[in-house]
Amino acid sequence: MGAVIIGCGKALPNLEVANDDLQALVDTNDEWISSRTGISTRHIAVDESGLALAARAAAAALGMDGSNDPTDSTCGWTTSPIEPSSIDLVLFATVTPDIVVPSCAAVVKRMLGLDHAVAMDLNAACTGFIYGLSVAESMLAAANGAAGAAGRNPLKRALVIGCDRLSRVTDWGDRNTCVLFGDGAGAAVVEWNESAPGIMASYLRNDDDEKNALTCANYIEAPQPFSAEGIDQAARATDPSLRFTDEALGIHEAVEAGGMRQVIRMDGRSIFKFASNAMTHAVEEVLRRTGCSLDDIDCVIPHQANARIIKFAAKKLGLDMDTFQLSIANTGNTSSASVPMALADAYVSGRVQPGDKVILVAFGGGLTSGAILYEA
Ligand code: UT7
Repeated sequence: MGAVIIGCGKALPNLEVANDDLQALVDTNDEWISSRTGISTRHIAVDESGLALAARAAAAALGMDGSNDPTDSTCGWTTSPIEPSSIDLVLFATVTPDIVVPSCAAVVKRMLGLDHAVAMDLNAACTGFIYGLSVAESMLAAANGAAGAAGRNPLKRALVIGCDRLSRVTDWGDRNTCVLFGDGAGAAVVEWNESAPGIMASYLRNDDDEKNALTCANYIEAPQPFSAEGIDQAARATDPSLRFTDEALGIHEAVEAGGMRQVIRMDGRSIFKFASNAMTHAVEEVLRRTGCSLDDIDCVIPHQANARIIKFAAKKLGLDMDTFQLSIANTGNTSSASVPMALADAYVSGRVQPGDKVILVAFGGGLTSGAILYEA
């Protein structure tokens, strides 16, 4: 018995921005970007909200929308169309929520008529979808297991969404980061199945980001009519508390010098090193937890941050690159959307077949990392 993936989908924004287009913004070129990252183009949501993208991806995962052509901007795969009212739980992973109340998950629930679902958002940076899927699997297992099931919400099906518009937290004048990111949404439906293994193991981890290698300050800010002495209308222009966050993130000097606060800052080399080790370790952990070996694995669907990180991890593991789903060329790094969009690509293209053993693996800010091993 286990939580089985019965649908997945993705949605990309309309505007495609090629590497060379970015020369209008920063000193860069296609040769550098493609050889160092594997990225050729990324999609930017200009007149589309994150919620609209998420709803499209989720509808594709339910079989309500989208094509079965992986090159289409909205596409999906399902074992058979999924009744919206059969979804019991919606989890929405994001670092760039369009709104905070209601949760993005609650809005998608409303948009798609998922009448019986409970809904919440979560943030585990680029590992968000893996965390979300693991939380969904744990809740399904608890609700359907013998111990304590009667005291919990009945739960058979969960919709897990990963959606981000990193374009909104990107410094488009910083060539070290801006060439890497894109927008998108991906989603998967998992169902509790008494006779199939489904998700066999998950491994979640958080290493302290002591050197602030990957940060982004909260981008929701309301002016406060208070100073330390009490009501102070003039204080609206400033928020002294932000100083503490800026210091904690090590960005106060940059902000004081006029730099943007709410953008992604990254020490690329540190993250590169962390990422290749974290991915390798997470894969080894789920193999150990299931007793499987690398020979049993038909497909690895990794976070699409940099093709070189994936190649490095493949080499370290001793796995052929053909085992890895590579979707980065057309998307860039889309954070929480990255793994579920690559998952949709793998299913829609027919790469993942019933009975295959698949590993999902990711890393990101936090520093989070994790992997899931499941049987398709
Ligand atoms: O989701 C998780 C988030 N992030 C990641 O996974 C990113 C992890 N890190 C990486 O992917 C890589 O470290 C980068 C792609 C960010 C950078 O690649 P790199 O091979 O580590 O390059 P570098 O930072 O060592 O820079 C090499 C050179 C530098 O020039 P100098 O100092 O050697 O003259 C940079 O200034 O490349 C230069 N450079 C660029 N040149 C053209 C940096 N960005 C660019 C650019 N275009 N966009």
